[in-house]
Amino acid sequence: MYNLLKGKKGIIFGALDSNSIAWKTAERVHEEGGEFVLTNAPVAMRMGQINELAEKTGAQIIPADATSLEDLQNLVDKSMEILGGKIDFVLHSIGMSINVRKGNHYTNQNYDFTQKGTDVSAMSFHKVMQTLYKSDAMNEWGSIVGLSYMAAQRVFPDYNDMADNKAYLESIARSFGYFFGKEKNVRVNTISQSPTPTTAGSGVKGFDGFISYADKMSPLGNATALDCANYTVSLFSDLTKRVTLQNLYNDGGFSNMGVSTAVMDAFVENESK
Ligand code: NAI
Repeated sequence: MYNLLKGKKGIIFGALDSNSIAWKTAERVHEEGGEFVLTNAPVAMRMGQINELAEKTGAQIIPADATSLEDLQNLVDKSMEILGGKIDFVLHSIGMSINVRKGNHYTNQNYDFTQKGTDVSAMSFHKVMQTLYKSDAMNEWGSIVGLSYMAAQRVFPDYNDMADNKAYLESIARSFGYFFGKEKNVRVNTISQSPTPTTAGSGVKGFDGFISYADKMSPLGNATALDCANYTVSLFSDLTKRVTLQNLYNDGGFSNMGVSTAVMDAFVENESK
């Protein structure tokens, strides 16, 4: 441990259970000396696992539906009270598609579901930042991170409307990052993460095939939730002060691959059957 976040205060969204990327991030941020408030949707809290994480990391929990401006304002105000000042880091680790959950094909969406999914998975990132911005709640040289997936750039048919939500999320990071950078010296980035076995990830159809394909394709193998947590710690630290408006791949090299020997071998073997 390097004390990379000593003295820094933040808000971490989206720790549902110990598989969650946000859960691992909270553990790593704590180990690096950061203090934070944990938050999740009230409905997710009922499962109660977050209490265990809060105890372990000395954090307080404030429920907030990330689509509700009222909840977000309450979260930001209370967090500053609890932490005794402005915020240095924020992790937005939130995603949900009702079309995916209900098994609606991309070409047969229920648009009420689509809208809700967009609100939760992408627009909430804007809402979080707008609330922080208007409240002048971020310290200078603070850092905000959202989590994305490569389906924002390339076609993964079963990722469904989440692909569009991720494209929107990444665009918000750039657009809001400009104003947050100019006005308050705050950086905003997204990390584009490998498929990772979590509740949200496993909801995608064919996830097992998806994850092993990505693993075979990537020279370094899939990035784990812990790898993602470590990358986020670096982005919250002062070592990355002028990295902003970026979508940063944490994917073992997947995004620059055409084909790998392992994938080609599996394909040829299958063809010859
Ligand atoms: P997860 O299921 O553990 O986390 C998703 C979180 O979103 C949950 O804690 C859930 O309660 C929260 N959430 C849903 N609706 C909400 C609302 N209205 N208000 C506040 N919170 C709400 O899954 P995971 O994988 O840790 O997801 C975290 C982020 O990482 C998501 O943005 C996801 O899209 C992204 N990601 C995940 C990948 C994967 O394969 N698991 C790959 C690339 C990105």
